[in-house]
Amino acid sequence: MDKYVIHGGNPLHGEVEISGAKNAAVAIIPAALMVEGVCRIENIPQISDTDMLLTILSEMGAKVRSINQSTVEIDCSSVRRDGAPYELMRKIRASYYLIGAMLGRFGSAKTTMPGGCNFGVRPIDQHIKGMTALGAQVAVKGGFVYAEVPEGHLTGAKIYLDKVSVGATMNIMIAAARAQGKTVIENAAREPHIVDLANFLNSMGADVRGAGTDTIKIYGVETLHGGSYSIIPDQIEAGIYMAACAAAGGEVTVRNVIPKHLDCISAKLREMGVEVEDGEDSVTVRRTGALQRTNVNTQPYPGFPTDMQPQISTVLCLAVGTSVVTEGVWDNRYKYMSELKKMGAEVQVDGKTAVIEGVSFLTGAVVAACDLRAGAAVVIAGLAARGETTVEDVVFIERHYQDLVGKLRSLGADIACVTEPDEFSAAIV
Ligand code: EPU
Repeated sequence: MDKYVIHGGNPLHGEVEISGAKNAAVAIIPAALMVEGVCRIENIPQISDTDMLLTILSEMGAKVRSINQSTVEIDCSSVRRDGAPYELMRKIRASYYLIGAMLGRFGSAKTTMPGGCNFGVRPIDQHIKGMTALGAQVAVKGGFVYAEVPEGHLTGAKIYLDKVSVGATMNIMIAAARAQGKTVIENAAREPHIVDLANFLNSMGADVRGAGTDTIKIYGVETLHGGSYSIIPDQIEAGIYMAACAAAGGEVTVRNVIPKHLDCISAKLREMGVEVEDGEDSVTVRRTGALQRTNVNTQPYPGFPTDMQPQISTVLCLAVGTSVVTEGVWDNRYKYMSELKKMGAEVQVDGKTAVIEGVSFLTGAVVAACDLRAGAAVVIAGLAARGETTVEDVVFIERHYQDLVGKLRSLGADIACVTEPDEFSAAIV
């Protein structure tokens, strides 16, 4: 029963190092299944999703060797289709990438339906559409996905995505890397992690072109060989420290980032009156005066990322004036607003729109982390608030960020992770 206890009001000062991108790593690790040789992958974030995916590969027969804390070597030369631990797969959203990877490698796949945070309905119809176009027969039964290519190998195809989907774009890229012939994905997602996956596959011998645009062409190759690859820095983790500095005040340099990937976040902070200076591989955020209102509309990249919506909305709770936030990706990503209201935020949510009336301060309260980004949002609120904030259900945070508490403490935040025995279990022991 871990919780965070935060004493708010300390401005943040100093430098913080950003880890590898979660949403790139969780696609690149399953993609290693397609490679017959040793893949050395650097800059892997140390979080439970990457640990679980590495364990899944090990249980399928991959040799996984840790070189240091953020580098592993994966040798999938002699993996088997069976043996995947379904109870682990079920826990993570990104296990859907195993459908593409297993189909591409073995011509058949059995995976669980993916788990993950609840933002409303999270269909995988576009993944299935893609795999079907490549020649697979796919069935979803009893919480499992079964896919089989009667011909034994996938065949390139032209696929138009009905919805811009990060997951479907990456899954099709993985599967098509070793398909026979050319695959074209139209209306593809363009996030930095799409480009990162393409670069990973290409450095293992694949031929993926156009990643980062809405048309991606994959020329299938017979085999993928081993190689070495370093994952890009995490855009959203960087955004959390930028937003935390904007909310709590101070000056923070966020290191090991690609400033271009942060443009959408930097632009919003500047509109709010926060200074943001780009360096070569860093950004420095400085809050000198009052925060000003602005509007935010989340969209697929290069739009403002949905995964930063809770954190930026928290900053807007402290801005002068009325801000309107529109969530353009997920149906239900405002559950955390009821937690912020406990701290004094003034927000009206109507469907995909939140109208935020800025207040001059938030007050510490007992709040819950509803999911990974909502969890970051209430931590940011606690750092800026007057008094003590207790954040419960921090398992969502602990699982998805590398050392959030340690990194914030190094910036001068008064935050501690406290473990308390579960009262109920203690009573029945
Ligand atoms: N969608 C469909 N059908 C599909 C797939 C998606 O209708 O087959 C819809 C979704 O319901 C959603 C929209 O398309 O409305 C976009 O979904 P997308 O497929 O892009 O999301 P995802 O691949 O499931 C990844 C990230 C999410 C991030 C989204 C959008 C991973 C493991 N997850 O999810 O990350 O919000 O892309 O950028 O990469 C997070 O990190 O906080 C997080 C939730």
